[in-house]
Amino acid sequence: MKKTMNFTEKEKNPLKSIEVWEDDVLIRYPEEKVKKSEAEYRNYDTPDRDTVREFYRMNHKHQTYDFVQEKRHDFLQFNRKEMTIWGAMEFLNTLVDDSDPDIDLDQLQHLLQTAEAIRADGHPDWFVLTGFIHDMGKILCLFGEPQWAVVGDTFPVGCRFSDKIVYSEFFEANPDNQDERYNSKYGVYKPNCGLENVQMSWGHDEYLYQILKDYLPEEAQYMIRYHSFYSQHRDHAYDHLMTSHDHKMFEWVDKFNPYDLYSKSPKPPVISELKPYYEDLIAKYLPKTVKM
Ligand SMILES: [Fe+2]
Ligand SMILES: [Fe+2]
Repeated sequence: MKKTMNFTEKEKNPLKSIEVWEDDVLIRYPEEKVKKSEAEYRNYDTPDRDTVREFYRMNHKHQTYDFVQEKRHDFLQFNRKEMTIWGAMEFLNTLVDDSDPDIDLDQLQHLLQTAEAIRADGHPDWFVLTGFIHDMGKILCLFGEPQWAVVGDTFPVGCRFSDKIVYSEFFEANPDNQDERYNSKYGVYKPNCGLENVQMSWGHDEYLYQILKDYLPEEAQYMIRYHSFYSQHRDHAYDHLMTSHDHKMFEWVDKFNPYDLYSKSPKPPVISELKPYYEDLIAKYLPKTVKM
């Protein structure tokens, strides 16, 4: 079943670093209540702009229903590494990029800031833990995966791609767009079949959900699994596949999202001070080691 796709280094990794995608999401969805127009978003000008376009072009072209099955088949065997959660975080943090010296926070700092912001607002401890681990699936990058199969907005595959997905015109080049099994409104799904029956594009969200699903409350599972599903968060583009239970759970995804996007502060957290608290939290909910 495995189709070997040979991509050049540039095709695999168009972005200087995967944070460039997150910076771009922030430009698309700024914290200010004033929503930027689509045109304004597209016209912003930074040296990263073209790489972001190229990133979405590759993502939208190659995330097909078959591609997702192939990745699931491969990665959901969890036969690459066994690590403690903290060890996995440190491993993730080796994903430093060679980009600017004034680079933003590293992965662990982003995760700690997200979690600390959740904690400061007095949310339950499993919510804090979720903030701390939500991007752990980015370890996929360290297994040599292309950036566009690790980060990026996620969306259902197996049915029509919504025009609410950023750069949706790039789906023209996705073979599923011409495949009548997959290009109708419902495709392989039934109306309101529930997201648990829907395959999402492959990336760090689904991967981590699959690793940790047995250990966390359902609300936390949703937050992890759908935190990059922006066309649903922002535009309700896939209500027709969701159940009322999904909608209830998405209230938590919506609660989580601002912490992910807007908790970045220039003051880096002091990891050594916070480590004991997070080690306890990990021990409370998660097994000693996880297979990745
Ligand atoms: Fe993420
Ligand atoms: Fe994040």
